[in-house]
Amino acid sequence: MKVHNVEMVMSAVRPEQYPDDGFPEFALAGRSNVGKSSFINKMLGRRNIARTSSKPGKTQTLNFYKIEEQLFFVDVPGYGYARVSKTEKEKWGGMIEQYLTGREPLVAAVQIVDIRHAPSADDINMYNFFVHYNIPTIVIATKADKIPKGKWDKHKKIVRETLNMLGDDPLFVFSSEKGIGVEAVWAEIESRMQR
Ligand code: GTP
Ligand code: MG
Repeated sequence: MKVHNVEMVMSAVRPEQYPDDGFPEFALAGRSNVGKSSFINKMLGRRNIARTSSKPGKTQTLNFYKIEEQLFFVDVPGYGYARVSKTEKEKWGGMIEQYLTGREPLVAAVQIVDIRHAPSADDINMYNFFVHYNIPTIVIATKADKIPKGKWDKHKKIVRETLNMLGDDPLFVFSSEKGIGVEAVWAEIESRMQR
Protein backbone atom coordinates (compact mmCIF):
# COMPACT_ATOMS: atom_id res chain seq x y z
CA MET A 1 0.00 0.00 0.00
CA LYS A 2 1.22 3.46 -0.88
CA VAL A 3 0.49 5.49 2.23
CA HIS A 4 -0.32 9.17 1.73
CA ASN A 5 -2.78 9.82 4.46
CA VAL A 6 -2.32 8.89 8.11
CA GLU A 7 -3.95 10.37 11.14
CA MET A 8 -3.43 9.49 14.77
CA VAL A 9 -7.08 9.72 15.68
CA MET A 10 -7.21 8.50 19.24
CA SER A 11 -5.15 7.70 22.24
CA ALA A 12 -7.52 5.45 24.15
CA VAL A 13 -7.61 3.74 27.51
CA ARG A 14 -11.31 2.75 27.49
CA PRO A 15 -13.64 1.15 24.90
CA GLU A 16 -15.83 4.29 24.67
CA GLN A 17 -12.80 6.05 23.24
CA TYR A 18 -12.13 3.58 20.42
CA PRO A 19 -12.91 4.95 16.95
CA ASP A 20 -16.22 3.84 15.43
CA ASP A 21 -15.33 3.90 11.71
CA GLY A 22 -15.49 0.11 11.54
CA PHE A 23 -12.34 -0.17 9.39
CA PRO A 24 -10.27 -3.34 9.90
CA GLU A 25 -7.76 -3.02 12.71
CA PHE A 26 -4.30 -4.53 13.12
CA ALA A 27 -2.93 -4.41 16.65
CA LEU A 28 0.77 -4.33 17.41
CA ALA A 29 1.95 -6.58 20.21
CA GLY A 30 5.39 -7.24 21.57
CA ARG A 31 7.63 -6.74 24.52
CA SER A 32 8.60 -3.26 25.50
CA ASN A 33 11.31 -1.74 23.33
CA VAL A 34 11.16 -4.48 20.68
CA GLY A 35 10.29 -1.98 17.96
CA LYS A 36 6.47 -1.81 17.61
CA SER A 37 6.28 1.95 17.16
CA SER A 38 9.28 1.86 14.80
CA PHE A 39 7.49 -0.80 12.74
CA ILE A 40 4.44 1.46 12.41
CA ASN A 41 6.58 4.41 11.35
CA LYS A 42 8.42 2.38 8.71
CA MET A 43 5.23 0.88 7.32
CA LEU A 44 3.67 4.33 7.10
CA GLY A 45 6.78 6.00 5.74
CA ARG A 46 6.80 8.53 8.57
CA ARG A 47 9.76 9.35 10.74
CA ASN A 48 8.10 9.60 14.11
CA ILE A 49 4.30 9.59 13.90
CA ALA A 50 4.38 6.77 16.46
CA ARG A 51 6.71 7.99 19.17
CA THR A 52 9.73 5.75 19.72
CA SER A 53 12.38 5.69 22.39
CA SER A 54 15.51 3.81 23.32
CA LYS A 55 13.95 3.49 26.79
CA PRO A 56 11.22 0.85 27.23
CA GLY A 57 7.70 1.89 28.20
CA LYS A 58 7.25 4.73 25.70
CA THR A 59 3.80 3.77 24.45
CA GLN A 60 1.28 3.71 27.30
CA THR A 61 -2.13 3.97 25.66
CA LEU A 62 -3.90 2.34 22.70
CA ASN A 63 -3.00 4.64 19.81
CA PHE A 64 -5.17 4.35 16.70
CA TYR A 65 -3.61 5.32 13.37
CA LYS A 66 -6.13 5.72 10.60
CA ILE A 67 -4.56 4.89 7.24
CA GLU A 68 -5.99 5.99 3.88
CA GLU A 69 -9.54 5.89 5.31
CA GLN A 70 -9.26 2.09 5.00
CA LEU A 71 -7.67 0.53 8.05
CA PHE A 72 -6.16 1.16 11.46
CA PHE A 73 -2.88 0.25 13.05
CA VAL A 74 -3.26 0.15 16.81
CA ASP A 75 -0.06 0.77 18.74
CA VAL A 76 -0.24 -1.05 22.04
CA PRO A 77 1.96 -0.67 25.13
CA GLY A 78 4.65 -3.32 25.31
CA TYR A 79 4.60 -6.18 27.81
CA GLY A 80 7.33 -7.26 30.16
CA TYR A 81 8.41 -3.79 31.20
CA ALA A 82 9.82 -4.28 34.69
CA ARG A 83 9.94 -0.71 35.89
CA VAL A 84 6.21 -0.06 36.18
CA SER A 85 4.43 -0.96 39.41
CA LYS A 86 2.36 -4.11 39.74
CA THR A 87 -0.91 -2.15 39.91
CA GLU A 88 0.05 -0.21 36.83
CA LYS A 89 0.91 -3.46 35.04
CA GLU A 90 -2.50 -4.86 35.96
CA LYS A 91 -4.22 -1.72 34.73
CA TRP A 92 -2.40 -1.94 31.38
CA GLY A 93 -2.99 -5.67 31.15
CA GLY A 94 -6.71 -5.06 31.68
CA MET A 95 -6.84 -2.34 29.05
CA ILE A 96 -5.02 -4.44 26.46
CA GLU A 97 -6.92 -7.63 27.19
CA GLN A 98 -10.23 -5.80 26.98
CA TYR A 99 -9.29 -4.45 23.57
CA LEU A 100 -7.87 -7.68 22.16
CA THR A 101 -10.67 -9.96 23.32
CA GLY A 102 -13.68 -7.77 22.63
CA ARG A 103 -12.91 -5.76 19.53
CA GLU A 104 -15.03 -6.66 16.53
CA PRO A 105 -12.97 -4.80 13.85
CA LEU A 106 -9.74 -6.47 15.00
CA VAL A 107 -8.60 -8.55 12.02
CA ALA A 108 -5.20 -9.71 13.22
CA ALA A 109 -2.50 -9.18 15.76
CA VAL A 110 0.92 -8.19 14.51
CA GLN A 111 3.30 -9.66 17.05
CA ILE A 112 6.80 -8.25 16.93
CA VAL A 113 9.76 -10.27 18.19
CA ASP A 114 13.49 -9.62 18.06
CA ILE A 115 15.05 -11.80 15.35
CA ARG A 116 18.29 -12.03 17.31
CA HIS A 117 16.89 -13.98 20.25
CA ALA A 118 14.62 -16.93 20.82
CA PRO A 119 11.17 -15.62 21.87
CA SER A 120 10.88 -15.08 25.65
CA ALA A 121 8.33 -16.62 28.01
CA ASP A 122 6.31 -13.39 27.67
CA ASP A 123 6.39 -13.68 23.88
CA ILE A 124 5.18 -17.28 24.09
CA ASN A 125 2.37 -16.33 26.48
CA MET A 126 1.25 -13.52 24.19
CA TYR A 127 1.20 -15.78 21.15
CA ASN A 128 -0.72 -18.46 23.06
CA PHE A 129 -3.22 -15.83 24.15
CA PHE A 130 -3.90 -15.01 20.48
CA VAL A 131 -4.27 -18.68 19.64
CA HIS A 132 -6.65 -19.13 22.58
CA TYR A 133 -8.86 -16.24 21.44
CA ASN A 134 -8.70 -17.24 17.77
CA ILE A 135 -6.98 -14.04 16.78
CA PRO A 136 -4.93 -14.61 13.62
CA THR A 137 -1.37 -13.48 14.19
CA ILE A 138 1.24 -12.12 11.82
CA VAL A 139 4.64 -12.55 13.46
CA ILE A 140 7.34 -10.04 12.60
CA ALA A 141 10.98 -10.84 13.39
CA THR A 142 12.44 -7.35 13.48
CA LYS A 143 15.90 -5.80 13.83
CA ALA A 144 17.09 -8.05 10.98
CA ASP A 145 19.71 -5.41 10.20
CA LYS A 146 21.49 -6.57 13.35
CA ILE A 147 22.32 -10.05 12.06
CA PRO A 148 23.82 -11.20 8.75
CA LYS A 149 21.36 -12.16 6.03
CA GLY A 150 22.83 -15.68 5.93
CA LYS A 151 21.46 -16.27 9.45
CA TRP A 152 17.88 -15.12 8.86
CA ASP A 153 16.50 -18.55 7.99
CA LYS A 154 18.05 -20.18 11.04
CA HIS A 155 16.62 -17.45 13.31
CA LYS A 156 13.21 -17.64 11.64
CA LYS A 157 13.12 -21.35 12.37
CA ILE A 158 13.94 -20.72 16.04
CA VAL A 159 11.13 -18.14 16.29
CA ARG A 160 8.57 -20.42 14.61
CA GLU A 161 9.51 -23.39 16.76
CA THR A 162 9.79 -21.54 20.06
CA LEU A 163 6.39 -19.91 19.61
CA ASN A 164 5.03 -23.21 18.32
CA MET A 165 3.37 -21.20 15.57
CA LEU A 166 0.26 -22.42 13.81
CA GLY A 167 0.84 -23.28 10.15
CA ASP A 168 -1.64 -20.58 9.04
CA ASP A 169 0.21 -17.77 10.80
CA PRO A 170 2.91 -16.12 8.69
CA LEU A 171 6.33 -14.95 9.83
CA PHE A 172 8.23 -12.08 8.21
CA VAL A 173 11.79 -10.85 8.56
CA PHE A 174 11.77 -7.10 9.05
CA SER A 175 13.96 -4.10 9.77
CA SER A 176 12.67 -0.66 10.60
CA GLU A 177 16.21 0.59 10.24
CA LYS A 178 16.72 -0.70 6.70
CA GLY A 179 13.16 -1.07 5.43
CA ILE A 180 13.45 -4.84 5.01
CA GLY A 181 10.10 -6.61 4.67
CA VAL A 182 7.88 -3.56 4.25
CA GLU A 183 6.33 -4.63 0.94
CA ALA A 184 5.83 -8.25 1.94
CA VAL A 185 4.09 -7.26 5.17
CA TRP A 186 1.85 -4.77 3.36
CA ALA A 187 0.84 -7.49 0.89
CA GLU A 188 -0.11 -9.71 3.84
CA ILE A 189 -2.09 -6.98 5.57
CA GLU A 190 -3.90 -5.98 2.38
CA SER A 191 -4.89 -9.58 1.71
CA ARG A 192 -6.43 -9.76 5.18
CA MET A 193 -8.35 -6.50 4.84
CA GLN A 194 -10.50 -8.01 2.11
CA ARG A 195 -11.57 -11.10 4.00
P1 GTP B 1 7.44 0.54 23.81
O1 GTP B 1 6.60 1.64 23.25
O2 GTP B 1 8.28 0.97 24.95
O3 GTP B 1 6.69 -0.71 24.08
O4 GTP B 1 8.58 0.16 22.70
P2 GTP B 1 8.39 -0.17 21.14
O5 GTP B 1 8.20 -1.64 20.96
O6 GTP B 1 7.39 0.72 20.52
O7 GTP B 1 9.87 0.16 20.58
P3 GTP B 1 10.37 1.40 19.71
O8 GTP B 1 9.79 1.36 18.35
O9 GTP B 1 10.20 2.64 20.52
O10 GTP B 1 11.93 1.02 19.51
C1 GTP B 1 12.80 0.76 20.60
C2 GTP B 1 14.24 0.93 20.17
O11 GTP B 1 14.63 -0.04 19.20
C3 GTP B 1 14.54 2.29 19.53
O12 GTP B 1 15.80 2.72 19.98
C4 GTP B 1 14.57 1.98 18.04
O13 GTP B 1 15.38 2.86 17.30
C5 GTP B 1 15.15 0.57 18.03
N1 GTP B 1 14.71 -0.22 16.84
C6 GTP B 1 13.43 -0.48 16.50
N2 GTP B 1 13.36 -1.21 15.37
C7 GTP B 1 14.65 -1.40 14.96
C8 GTP B 1 15.26 -2.10 13.83
O14 GTP B 1 14.60 -2.68 12.96
N3 GTP B 1 16.62 -2.08 13.79
C9 GTP B 1 17.39 -1.47 14.72
N4 GTP B 1 18.71 -1.54 14.58
N5 GTP B 1 16.86 -0.81 15.79
C10 GTP B 1 15.52 -0.77 15.90
MG1 MG C 1 6.06 2.06 21.37
